Amino acid sequence: MKNSTLFVFGILVIVLTACVNQPAHHLTDEPFRSVYHHSPAQNWMNDPNGMFYDDATQLWHLYYQHNPFGTTWGPMHWAHATSTDLIHWEQHPIALAPDSLGTIFSGSIVIDRNNTAGFGENAIVAIYTQSEICGQHQSIAYSLDGGMTFTKYEGNPVLKGDIADFRDPKVFWDEQTNRWMMILACQQEVRFYSSINLRDWTYESSFGANYGEHSGVWECPDLIQLGDHWVLLLNINPGGPFGGSATQYFVGNWNGKTFTCIDMPEETKWLDYGKDHYATVTWHNAPNNRVVAIGWMSNWQYANNVPTVAFRSQNTIARDLSLFIDDAGEYRVRVTPSPESMAIKGEPTKKLGDVAIIELEMSGSETGVITLSNDKGENVVMTLNVYKHTFTMDRTESGDCSFSADFTGATTTPLFVKQDSYRLILFIDHCSIEAFDANGYWAMTNLVFPTKPYNQIKVQGGKATVYNCNL
Ligand code: FRU
Repeated sequence: MKNSTLFVFGILVIVLTACVNQPAHHLTDEPFRSVYHHSPAQNWMNDPNGMFYDDATQLWHLYYQHNPFGTTWGPMHWAHATSTDLIHWEQHPIALAPDSLGTIFSGSIVIDRNNTAGFGENAIVAIYTQSEICGQHQSIAYSLDGGMTFTKYEGNPVLKGDIADFRDPKVFWDEQTNRWMMILACQQEVRFYSSINLRDWTYESSFGANYGEHSGVWECPDLIQLGDHWVLLLNINPGGPFGGSATQYFVGNWNGKTFTCIDMPEETKWLDYGKDHYATVTWHNAPNNRVVAIGWMSNWQYANNVPTVAFRSQNTIARDLSLFIDDAGEYRVRVTPSPESMAIKGEPTKKLGDVAIIELEMSGSETGVITLSNDKGENVVMTLNVYKHTFTMDRTESGDCSFSADFTGATTTPLFVKQDSYRLILFIDHCSIEAFDANGYWAMTNLVFPTKPYNQIKVQGGKATVYNCNL
């Protein structure tokens, strides 16, 4: 190689390294930059990965699928951010970068308290998919500095794929059998593998045939205990109720080896009835036995085309999960904004801005219509239909929809539980609306790109209070 080539190559490496070690601040203040949702300082983001809570530092760690070289999906890295309150995020250097085994796809993190893997007591161990032309395999890496830097295990990969889609390991400690369990998405089913040391994995069982939605690839699974039952979260793309990506789930039981669904529901259960809620998984070691989830707030149908400039995508607000029984007697997952998100609710205000929390009280006997709009006539119409027992959000005229024919339209959720009056909570942050039943009976997340912020709210059949956000 000639000297000049070496020199150019050297500059290239410096430039790439500079991109990878992003500054802690946001590069631009764009109109669609979320304020209280996590978004990458620059460039592309998809799935949240490897989230864990560190008791010692009281930090919520969030890693995520990231392309440090551009604003569309590309060579995947794990980028890293931390937060003390799930609202303000500090950006850290890239945690995991591609190597000879492939790029770094989604996965999870566990704290290895008893040093089962031999990397050290309380080692933070990341388990992730490596994707390469010849297939997908699971690898591990460990951190001895609280999740800031990782060393890859020299024996990688620890679990080799035998099919094309073999990815997104979520690992948890199984109290019933005292061993690690990995749940892995394998095309249209999930597989469970066990291990005593995070290095050697044994196949245990599969779940999925004949259950739920199958018109897409199953991705990013999670198994969580909610009360007396276990819930399997399963993201699917395409195949969501409104096209593209969405999170389905199954309520059942886990015996340390197999997952069984407690019912064979006629309709698929969705964790969120909007169009921009995907790759949802939960935090390892969340405090007070909470089950805290976060999802990628976009949809593969148009994620690469949304009209942001220096970055693409943001995550949902954190949500706490539990179980409830609906009017039909079926178990469902209750989804409520995490207390950290509710804590930003400030004083009531007369003026609707591009950041707000809105609480609504709707009578249970009259159909209610909530319209958010701006001076240009762009609007989002939300209807709580007491006759159909549904809530609908229509973003057909919400603003810039030009980037994808799949973006316009409405999403609808059943109300699940009849109430005398309905209380709703809306979280608005520049380009997103997250609507919740205040009792957590349903959630709906949709992106919107108004060319001017919505500054008016009109409510028929109910009363709205708009709150500032204390940030
Ligand atoms: C889900 C997903 C995962 C994969 C990652 C790649 O959005 O396709 O299955 O690990 O994104 O970026």
